[in-house]
Amino acid sequence: MFYNEDCIEGAKKHLADNSVDLIVCDPPYGIDGSKLDKHYNRNEDFVLDGYIDVPADEYERFSLDWIKQAERVLRPGGSVYIVSGYTNLRHILNAISKTTLKEINHIIWKYNFGVYTKNKFVSSHYHILYCVKPKGRVVFNTNSRFSDCEKDENGRSLNYQDREDVWMINREYKPNQIKNKNELPTQLLTKIIQYSSNENDLVCDFFLGSFSTAKVALGLNRNACGFEKSKTAFDYQIEQIKNIEKGKLLSGLRKVPKSDLFSQGLPFSDFEKEKIVEKFYELKQNGITKKDALNQISKEFGRGYWSLIKVVDKEINVLQTILLDLFAN
Ligand SMILES: C[S@@+](CC[C@H](N)C(=O)[O-])C[C@H]1O[C@@H](n2cnc3c(N)ncnc32)[C@H](O)[C@@H]1O
Repeated sequence: MFYNEDCIEGAKKHLADNSVDLIVCDPPYGIDGSKLDKHYNRNEDFVLDGYIDVPADEYERFSLDWIKQAERVLRPGGSVYIVSGYTNLRHILNAISKTTLKEINHIIWKYNFGVYTKNKFVSSHYHILYCVKPKGRVVFNTNSRFSDCEKDENGRSLNYQDREDVWMINREYKPNQIKNKNELPTQLLTKIIQYSSNENDLVCDFFLGSFSTAKVALGLNRNACGFEKSKTAFDYQIEQIKNIEKGKLLSGLRKVPKSDLFSQGLPFSDFEKEKIVEKFYELKQNGITKKDALNQISKEFGRGYWSLIKVVDKEINVLQTILLDLFAN
């Protein structure tokens, strides 16, 4: 399922319409990849030769062609994450706008080892565009990494923080190891794959480079496929990927405690609403504040605070209207 081919032609040949659950792509940046070491101030001895870039004047056409293929092969409801620097970001955004893909989040990935500059601000982030193909079941595993009940020492929700759209994830420092230019960190790929796919789903990377997406996807017990145009990179990495044990990374994932909000997401029955309001009035009669009453009800009914407010306020409004009608008559 891995091809040493151009991704646009390769996708047409090997990937059926609507066949992929998740695409993670880190396309060449169109800034002459062979000069990347100058930007990054690093020892190139261990960087694998053979990074193929795209000439700047072809970037617009190239982006549209591969993103159209990504749209075609993605199943309805499937997700695509595109990593981009700012130089050619506009071409990627324009290309997306010419497809049916719906942009869900524009994530900023803040990393260490910023591009060193002297007379301007130091560039230390990438853009990650998270899009979904419409008309299908979207996988977004909200509680795959943190449950709703987990808080940090300041009482802030860990789940909320993990889902903020600025990600601080360091690039991996791999001294004396063969790597691809711009290898994506395992932590970043794990996060994307955990949120936007399930075990046994098919994850595709159009620009495999060091096969980092594929290695993490297989490690998380997903299936993987993709393309890499460079023969040097492909020939080296296709041997490496044979050593990846499927599912090996699963045991190292953070164990998420069961949420206290055991009924969250389920529809409210009329009976449950009645019981919630009854309980609310009972607690209020005992002199408890609205906030404390709702927190207590939240524990008992396994419902989130904000959904309870909605239920309680709506029921109170209904009751008030009935009472006003009664008095008016
Ligand atoms: C930014 S790197 C990807 C790095 C990868 N995400 C990793 O973690 O190692 C882009 C890769 O795309 C490859 N590439 C360039 N043009 C391509 C094309 N048309 N089809 C497939 N691969 C291509 C380059 O050789 C390079 O390895």
